[in-house]
Amino acid sequence: MQSAFMRNNFAVQSESGLHVAIIMDGNGRWATQRGLPRAAGHRAGVAAVRRTVEHAPDFGVRRLTVYAFSADNWRRPSAEVQSIFWLIRAYLRIECERLRSAGVRLEAIGRRDRIPKGLLSEIERVESITAANRKLELRVAVDYSSRDAIARACAGLPESASPKHVRAALDASLSAGHGDVDLLIRTGGEKRLSDFLLWESAYAEFHFTPCMWPDFQPADLDAAINAFRARERRFGSVPAIASVPALQIGGTRWLR
Ligand code: IPE
Ligand code: IPE
Ligand code: MG
Repeated sequence: MQSAFMRNNFAVQSESGLHVAIIMDGNGRWATQRGLPRAAGHRAGVAAVRRTVEHAPDFGVRRLTVYAFSADNWRRPSAEVQSIFWLIRAYLRIECERLRSAGVRLEAIGRRDRIPKGLLSEIERVESITAANRKLELRVAVDYSSRDAIARACAGLPESASPKHVRAALDASLSAGHGDVDLLIRTGGEKRLSDFLLWESAYAEFHFTPCMWPDFQPADLDAAINAFRARERRFGSVPAIASVPALQIGGTRWLR
């Protein structure tokens, strides 16, 4: 049975919608298991992105942040890196009209100075075409490092900034208008964050699944969100039922 606290908390979330973040891992293994080149796994991964974006609003998701290419992924062979950039660019080109008409606003997070020019201009084009959309905010992390994003946000502050000031500035620049992550999903079986949304996930719930990203279906997202909704988020507090000040047992009053 849901506690009053959980119902209250849940009511707050359902007003604004959930922020779900996904570490889309397992493309390479999915391909290797089938005797295919890793790029084929990335291609199949794009189809999973398309399905997920299409169905996410049906499950109450308002913001979806997906990890497409980490700053550490530059360590991969150059041919694989190029194929990933090519696929992101193709996804944006092909999906732009569908995103626009479905009310999806696209935004890229991460560094913009190292990615290929053609990809950058496609990102900027789709960002501007979808800027007024509000149904779903789709944030794609490309050349992204959370530690780098935090360090950059801090670097812009005066040396005299107080901890309170630093914290407010980080909240504003990293979570700006996007809210903290409610649910973070990682496919592919690994149980780590790989430098993704470290600040924004302070109170995120985690869902790790062995499912390889190309196999991820809308039903898997639905199941992860249902499991999330059954959890009790306390944010350091106590359940509402326990917040009654004291309990009388016999002659003794106990703090709950
Ligand atoms: C995630 O899949 C996609 C990117 C990192 C771009 P991987 O390519 O990491 O797949 P695995 O982990 O090797 O199976
Ligand atoms: C994280 O996956 C990055 C993306 C999913 C884009 P990786 O496969 O690069 O992470 P590690 O190397 O297993 O930590
Ligand atoms: Mg991986």
